[in-house]
Amino acid sequence: MQKSIAFFALVAALPTAVFGQSQVWGQCGGIGWTGPTTCVSGSSCVKQNDYYSQCLPGASVPTTTTPPPTTTTTTTPPTSSSTSPTTSAPTTTATTGPVTNPNSVHQKFKAHGKLYFGTCSDSNRFNNAQGANITVTDFGQVTPENSMKWDATEPNRGSYNFGGSDALVNFATTNGLMLRGHTFLWAQQIPGWINNIKDAATMTTVIQDHIRTVMTRYKGKVYGWDIVNEHINEDGSIKSTPFTQVLGNDAFRIAFQAARAADPDAKLYINDYNLDSNNAKVQGIVRLVQQLNANGTKLVDGIGSQAHITGGQGSTAQAALTALAAAGVEVAITELDIAQAPSADYTAVVRACLNVPACVGITVWGVRDPDSWRASTNPLLFDANFQPKPAYNAILAML
Ligand code: G3I
Repeated sequence: MQKSIAFFALVAALPTAVFGQSQVWGQCGGIGWTGPTTCVSGSSCVKQNDYYSQCLPGASVPTTTTPPPTTTTTTTPPTSSSTSPTTSAPTTTATTGPVTNPNSVHQKFKAHGKLYFGTCSDSNRFNNAQGANITVTDFGQVTPENSMKWDATEPNRGSYNFGGSDALVNFATTNGLMLRGHTFLWAQQIPGWINNIKDAATMTTVIQDHIRTVMTRYKGKVYGWDIVNEHINEDGSIKSTPFTQVLGNDAFRIAFQAARAADPDAKLYINDYNLDSNNAKVQGIVRLVQQLNANGTKLVDGIGSQAHITGGQGSTAQAALTALAAAGVEVAITELDIAQAPSADYTAVVRACLNVPACVGITVWGVRDPDSWRASTNPLLFDANFQPKPAYNAILAML
């Protein structure tokens, strides 16, 4: 009896280790790892980061698996003389995602012609070994959940803190993950001093300085940026925020122009929630994008649909993405989470992006349920123990 229990335990452990060795694509080292540190024949243990080493095919593989860069890298420090970064900018280059696990949702999604399947992160998430492992092996893109927001990067005017955002960018570039930047003009998570600005000239300078300083620091490393976030009302009109109260719709032009000047190769996005069916808000954001891109000057490259949704809403995702794409820009699902994580809705959203040519990628808003901003609804693809949930397996099976 004891023997059969031991045998069952061994068989149960087969996907990860066989007789003390990890299989190809399995983990073989990293901080906190207590499993096998050697790989089965034909593969080698390669360090991906301090938290994760992986068995990669081949007897001898290079220490990095980053594909050739698609954008240029710069290490130019921020140009603002009032800037006081806490660390120097990361020096590695983000490209098109890790060449690692071909069975990851990211690689399978890419095989259909899309750019990435990613997640949000920050150091409080990837400092957890299991969280880092999943982010690197299952996903191919990261968006800073909080570390690039205005209150984090410029808490006092002209005084910058890049500790959190540098850590996230370093994590991404070290592991070959694509990056999205998030976010500049938003009514939330802005420092108090912005609320005190009441004149147009000062607000204009403040927006230009902030966007130029942050984007220049990470120039060439970020695929796309959410320049404007959550500025559309449900009826499609423009939201009143500390930025639009002072500048009206000019706030958008000023922000996008500053962003284009800072990193001409980056995709510039407008991002919002409740764009999950072809509704008045979708029509409103399409109108705004068309206005900003009129007269031959393309300011906006993409519309991000956050997609914080509930069961049943997956069914209208494709119509919504199609309507957004009618603005003549690319689209992306930028913060996907679905209350109770129904497989039918997750697969419907993924299929919607596959079916809409303008849709470039999907980002889920977190790895595991307890780390979600709406944790009580268990909306993500991994459970509290970092185990894949049915929705994750359903997406993999569909891809
Ligand atoms: O950093 C402070 C910490 O010092 C303090 O001790 C702690 C006490 O509450 O708060 C910490 O800040 C929190 C921050 O996340 C960082 O963890 C804030 O309270 C908390 O409100 C904040 O929540 C974030 C929220 O945006 C803020 O609006 C969520 O993590 C983040 O997932 C969420 O993300 C947004 C997107 O940016 C835009 N779209 C909607 C989405 C969900 O709300």
